[in-house]
Amino acid sequence: MSTTPQALPADLDAGLRRLRLSAMRHLAPELLVVGKTQRWSPEELLRTLVEAEIASRDASNVTARLKLAAFPVTKTLEEFDVGASSVKPVSLDYLASLEWVRARENLCLVGPAGTGKSHLLVALGHQAIEAGMRVRYFTAPALIETLYRGFADNSVGRVIEQILKADLILIDEIGFAPMDHTGAQLFFRIVAAAYENRSLGIASHWPFEEWGRFLPEQSTAVSLLDRLLHHGVVVVTEGESFRMKEARERGGRITSSTR
Ligand SMILES: Nc1ncnc2c1ncn2[C@@H]1O[C@H](COP(=O)(O)OP(=O)(O)OP(=O)(O)O)[C@@H](O)[C@H]1O
Ligand SMILES: [Mg+2]
Repeated sequence: MSTTPQALPADLDAGLRRLRLSAMRHLAPELLVVGKTQRWSPEELLRTLVEAEIASRDASNVTARLKLAAFPVTKTLEEFDVGASSVKPVSLDYLASLEWVRARENLCLVGPAGTGKSHLLVALGHQAIEAGMRVRYFTAPALIETLYRGFADNSVGRVIEQILKADLILIDEIGFAPMDHTGAQLFFRIVAAAYENRSLGIASHWPFEEWGRFLPEQSTAVSLLDRLLHHGVVVVTEGESFRMKEARERGGRITSSTR
């Protein structure tokens, strides 16, 4: 009995290629040998091949969804130090459960610079992708720019439809830059289209009562917040900036090492 993997017969190889069962095609020569030497039942061999194909498909689907999400950085919930954050462990557990995404509710993160808003948005996005969901990440200026382009060539409806194919749409950095009248209207359009239909995760350093500062009209701020908060979880991130804390710690180390 040969224990070196032999290439698959050409017809089998071609059949698996045609059916796009590439993991099976690559693993079959080796698994046929393992199956023979370890006296696997035919069912066991088939199961191992099918499981390998499924695992490979799942992994490539996750990769494709991560690419679609276009996260600016990689952040995970495991890396989020809940003890060092104002977010309560029970709130974090609820967010990590993704029940709010399944219920098409929104998440509104509000808090000053460096308190973990973007970290949480991206980490929850990752979690959603691992759970098989589709996610898109935008900063508010990038989203408005995308919508503006659609507005210019009359395709804004289609652009919004496309974005809303995702189960979770993350909009970060709301209010970093003031919105002009058209930008605010376009932003309102996507929030209104997502209302009770898709889950939005947003982050801003402006408390809600201050949204009139970056939106041209108070009435737009009211209508936007009405939709965002109706079925929404608000999580406030407070405290000192993580960036400042880390910079100080680094500074501290430099000082003590140069003494
Ligand atoms: N609780 C935390 N545990 C671990 N890392 C954290 C935590 N909070 C923040 N960080 C880290 O600190 C840095 C700043 O956090 P982040 O970018 O999420 O801040 P932000 O609230 O989005 O700030 P900004 O309003 O300026 O965008 C990041 O590198 C992030 O990973
Ligand atoms: Mg941020």
